[in-house]
Amino acid sequence: MSTKDYPVVALDRFIEATRDSGYKTTASAVAELIDNSFEAGATSVTVSIGEANGPGKREVTFAVKDNGCGMKPSVLRLALQFGGSTRFNSRDHVGRYGMGLPNSSLSQARRLDVYSWTKPDSVWWSYLDVDEIASGRIASVPKPRRRRLTGIFAVDSPSGTIVRWSRCDRLNHKKAKTIKAKLSAELGRIFRRQILNGKSITINGEPVKSFDPLFLQKGENLVGASQYGPPISYQIQVPTARPDQKVSTVYVTFSELPVDKWHAFSNEEKRRYGISKGAGVSILRSDREIDCGWFFMGTKRKENYDDWWRCEVRFDARLDELFGVTHTKQGIHPTEELIGILAPDIEKIAHELNASVRRKFTEIKGHETSSEAQSQADSRDYLLEPPPTNGQSFSHYGVSHSTKSLVDPKVTLPGFAYRIEHKVLKELSFYVPLLSEREIVLLLNEDHPFYERVYAPIAHSASLDVKSTREFLELLLFAAARAECAVTTKTERACAGSLRESWSNVLAAFLG
Ligand SMILES: Nc1ncnc2c1ncn2[C@@H]1O[C@H](COP(=O)(O)OP(=O)(O)OP(=O)(O)O)[C@@H](O)[C@H]1O
Ligand SMILES: [Mg+2]
Repeated sequence: MSTKDYPVVALDRFIEATRDSGYKTTASAVAELIDNSFEAGATSVTVSIGEANGPGKREVTFAVKDNGCGMKPSVLRLALQFGGSTRFNSRDHVGRYGMGLPNSSLSQARRLDVYSWTKPDSVWWSYLDVDEIASGRIASVPKPRRRRLTGIFAVDSPSGTIVRWSRCDRLNHKKAKTIKAKLSAELGRIFRRQILNGKSITINGEPVKSFDPLFLQKGENLVGASQYGPPISYQIQVPTARPDQKVSTVYVTFSELPVDKWHAFSNEEKRRYGISKGAGVSILRSDREIDCGWFFMGTKRKENYDDWWRCEVRFDARLDELFGVTHTKQGIHPTEELIGILAPDIEKIAHELNASVRRKFTEIKGHETSSEAQSQADSRDYLLEPPPTNGQSFSHYGVSHSTKSLVDPKVTLPGFAYRIEHKVLKELSFYVPLLSEREIVLLLNEDHPFYERVYAPIAHSASLDVKSTREFLELLLFAAARAECAVTTKTERACAGSLRESWSNVLAAFLG
């Protein structure tokens, strides 16, 4: 059998199969193009997302234009080849696999056109087209030809490159507007260091602003975190290195978010600002983010308190093998050896930061419980008919009985003592009244929209006007809780509970 019948790569199938190479999002594919632009010395990258009339429907198109060094025709042809690179296996660059341009492009689009110029008057063009390759019409990268560029693609720099994607059938989102918003947020984070160092990325004319997940540097993010200790550096032996590059440094930085200032944000705000669901480590390879997640934490499990601190690990391409970086450059799979080096410190500091955050929340809650309304209710409860106590256990809700009631002279007054507790409750009610021999606990549901939108902002406000609003609001709730505690029979209690639940639902519906 002749070898001609069995080419190592069955091109028609390969080209379709390789499209599944695993870019997680459109932004991580676009990031490959921007890597190439910055590596070509570009100071400015403009991304244009458009909607064009495709066969029977509107279709989204992409163009990434840079003012880098551009490519000569021979390099342009190489660039479009899978595996073609001018820096194959180099560790001094971001790129090293010769896959980024064709692979990321065809993971999103069926057609890739590249225009490049090293002199403004001679623009060279070539392309890859999935359908032409699959049908056998082209088997090698088409020889570059001269092209004239007009409109938004007109040449406006001494040298540069434009990469265009059309027939985009694999984008994350369908609408150009949504794609633009997502892309802007992701690229701002991925290329935060380059943007902070003065490089410019725009999308449809709007500058992409840097987003620092550690909340230390100014940008699109809130600022106000503090760095936790100095960065730790590790000199690591490079497994496969030239003699002069045997050691490479990994830097680890921690930051602690300002719990006192930001804890009062509603859950929606915490999500929007990237506080919640942002716990863990941001991994930067050659200064651009390639992954983020719960890495190097040993046996420590992620808890809600861990939303309140961040970690950043920086390394360069020489440590790719240890970090387990693959050609799509959008994830790490660290080796046991690397975990053994980094995890002991990171896990230890993670525990310290978790404890520090926990302490801060306890202090804040301690503050909150001694409200004006509480002393007011404590001192006036004796005027009311005592409710029938039933020695109710609070443990079902994870609330403990007050330890201070026997020694606190305030509550030795006749009448019940009042207390507010805050928890995320499974039930739908905004609050649950709890009654013991001596006290009434108003248990507030942190998950109810009234808590997030109204109660928490009022309770955490330092303004004096708002303080009296808080007092009246809490008295209102204490009164409702007290009235429910006074209900005697089982049936009445069930009825009162269901009325409270419907009231809470209506309230949630009104708040929307
Ligand atoms: N915007 C650009 N400006 C100048 N040269 C470019 C540009 N984009 C790509 N190239 C050239 O094309 C080659 C191939 O790019 P490609 O992204 O496919 O591979 P790479 O960057 O070498 O490695 P990697 O797969 O790790 O990204 C690069 O080595 C570079 O020489
Ligand atoms: Mg590349």
